[in-house]
Amino acid sequence: MVKKTTQAKVAFITGASAGIGKAAGIALLNAGWHVVFAARRREVLEQVVSQCDQARALAVVMDVGDRESVKHAFARTQETFGRLDLLFNNAGRGAPAMPFEDLPYETWLEVINTNLNGMFLCAQEAFRRFKNQTPQGGRIINNGSISAQTPRPMSVAYTTTKHGVTGLTKSIALDGRAYNICGCQIDIGNAATEMTQRMSSGALQPDGSTLPEARMDVSHVAQTILHIANLPLDTNMLSTTIMANEMPFVGRG
Ligand SMILES: NC(=O)c1ccc[n+]([C@@H]2O[C@H](COP(=O)([O-])OP(=O)(O)OC[C@H]3O[C@@H](n4cnc5c(N)ncnc54)[C@H](OP(=O)(O)O)[C@@H]3O)[C@@H](O)[C@H]2O)c1
Repeated sequence: MVKKTTQAKVAFITGASAGIGKAAGIALLNAGWHVVFAARRREVLEQVVSQCDQARALAVVMDVGDRESVKHAFARTQETFGRLDLLFNNAGRGAPAMPFEDLPYETWLEVINTNLNGMFLCAQEAFRRFKNQTPQGGRIINNGSISAQTPRPMSVAYTTTKHGVTGLTKSIALDGRAYNICGCQIDIGNAATEMTQRMSSGALQPDGSTLPEARMDVSHVAQTILHIANLPLDTNMLSTTIMANEMPFVGRG
């Protein structure tokens, strides 16, 4: 089905079948955006989109770590909506906490492939479209983490990729300037999603104890994404941290 638009803005969200991506997609739709919901699980995605305005929402099955799958998803977006204004580069995963020396190399590679290769592949597809479309430009919001700033214990793969995301963000912000492209990053701490479910029962602390941690409602993250998305392209929110206020992070605990 062709849903071409020349007026409303178009957002592409990775990891949009659940959690932060889904909440951000619905917030953007409710604010008038056209939204592409991309993730691997077709049935879950279709369920999300079935509850949305069908003329402005599109479900695309895509694995961010698979180059052909990413190309296909961006091509579908172009065919359907005719342009792109925002990429929320959100899909990501962790790895089970384990001693540094025991992390299997296969797990390391899987986390790198999703969190870093996947973000690069999607950013490059979006960047090329932003550069070549009229009017030129667009915005990429990369989902970092407070782990882009400081690690949790036993999280080398996740922490390394999220620090890498900061380099990706700064490169997009710098190389994108010439083409009206903004590169931004949101660093989130403990939004209540599937990924952080274990935090409320107990998370490993640097002193070896396991303590429950505060979480915040995911809608606050979604509203922050909406705010950044609606900024004009001469304005960049390069880096934003949003976190559960009582979680251990500031003040070494
Ligand atoms: N929640 C937090 O407090 C928090 C804190 C810091 C950072 N973050 C970051 O926020 C992002 C989303 O986290 P979340 O809490 O919303 O997690 P979540 O509830 O587990 O959702 C993860 C989403 O990513 C998708 N996904 C995973 N691997 C994918 C792949 N290879 N290709 C395409 N989609 C993939 C999943 O969908 P499918 O399974 O259908 O593919 C799902 O929609 C991640 O990058 C995470 O690191 C979250």
